[in-house]
Amino acid sequence: MKIVVCIGSACHLKGSRQVIEQLELLIERHNIADKVDLTGTFCHGDCKKGVCVTLDGKLHSVLPDNVGEFFDTMIMQGV
Ligand code: FES
Repeated sequence: MKIVVCIGSACHLKGSRQVIEQLELLIERHNIADKVDLTGTFCHGDCKKGVCVTLDGKLHSVLPDNVGEFFDTMIMQGV
């Protein structure tokens, strides 16, 4: 599963760094590092939806506040 988090300036202001840090932590805690590929990308034009996270190419809007829920429902269901 490929997870790409936007680190462009608009998404950065909305907390992309925290989103990445929390995802890294959750991936480690659930021991699924071999099943996911977490990377960053620069702005891809959907700034209003930020923090923009794509999961296998599908765009999701994630914030530091709901990254745990996103992880449980979208990532753990798919690995
Ligand atoms: S800064 Fe993330 S989509 Fe533009």
